[in-house]
Amino acid sequence: YPEDDGMPLRPPASRGQSKSRNSSVTGRMTVDDFEFMEELGQGSYSTVWHCRLLATGQEYAIKRIDKAHLKRHQKEQTALAEKNTLVRLGSGHPGIVRLHWTFQDEWSLFFVLDLARNGELQTRISRMGSLSIECVRYYAAQIVDALGYMHSKGVIHRDLKPENLLLDDAFRIKITDFGTGKLLDSGGEPTKTFVGTAQYVSPELLEHNESSKSSDFWALGCIIYQMIAGRFVFRGLADWQKIKQLEYDFPEGFDEQAQDLVRKLLVRDPDQRLGAGPSGSPYDMKALRSHPFFASINWRNLWSGPAPPLE
Ligand code: ADE
Repeated sequence: YPEDDGMPLRPPASRGQSKSRNSSVTGRMTVDDFEFMEELGQGSYSTVWHCRLLATGQEYAIKRIDKAHLKRHQKEQTALAEKNTLVRLGSGHPGIVRLHWTFQDEWSLFFVLDLARNGELQTRISRMGSLSIECVRYYAAQIVDALGYMHSKGVIHRDLKPENLLLDDAFRIKITDFGTGKLLDSGGEPTKTFVGTAQYVSPELLEHNESSKSSDFWALGCIIYQMIAGRFVFRGLADWQKIKQLEYDFPEGFDEQAQDLVRKLLVRDPDQRLGAGPSGSPYDMKALRSHPFFASINWRNLWSGPAPPLE
């Protein structure tokens, strides 16, 4: 695990006079710099904790990744990829969880991340059954905006789903879990490894094991459908014939403009998926933002205005 991650090594206010025993000696953060509070969630090889940096009182989410587990499953590259992806994304977008520092001890890797106090969008969808059309519009717009930034930095997420869409204090979206993230080279060529979650998996991933930024837009279509209908558009691999043949329908009363948008996202040809086409084409990011479903969205204050009430 290379130490040089280009991240600041010390907590902001603890240089010199720190209570934090180890970091004042080594110059790096340690678990002793934080108070660990409750557990926020679990991944396959990690646990996320609500933490407080003692020196400043600032709260964070710390992802603790078990080294032995990584090694056993030969996932060292996955952890490294997650970190590199987060470093590349930097602090450049409010809709993406920011990595503040990383450190490690004998057993674990630690990622100090933005805390999203209102948890997973998945929990809200489950609790409410479905979301109001205004809520869906707002969250869909924030996801679109964050995807635009992410893709402009050459990062594809590849496992976009409501479990990875967190809500911050102001109920704004923060995309997390770049463990399956992929850094594209400058050509942006598709990459060949199967990752992702069955319900949100695109036809090209099923058929050719290929994903590109278009796969994130397929997932967006699935997420918009789910937020409105309160159920998955496809149930997963059992539905793979249906995924390939685009066999799905909309429940009664499903917003017409949202239907049109979902139809333009759940398109077989990755190049003709709205948002994924080359700039200047009828499928580019501009065309996606201009879709009638987003007509009432003010893209300029998308991250400063209030969120619609969750209902
Ligand atoms: N669960 C997983 N990651 C989280 C985060 N960054 N904030 C809050 N809850 C989380």
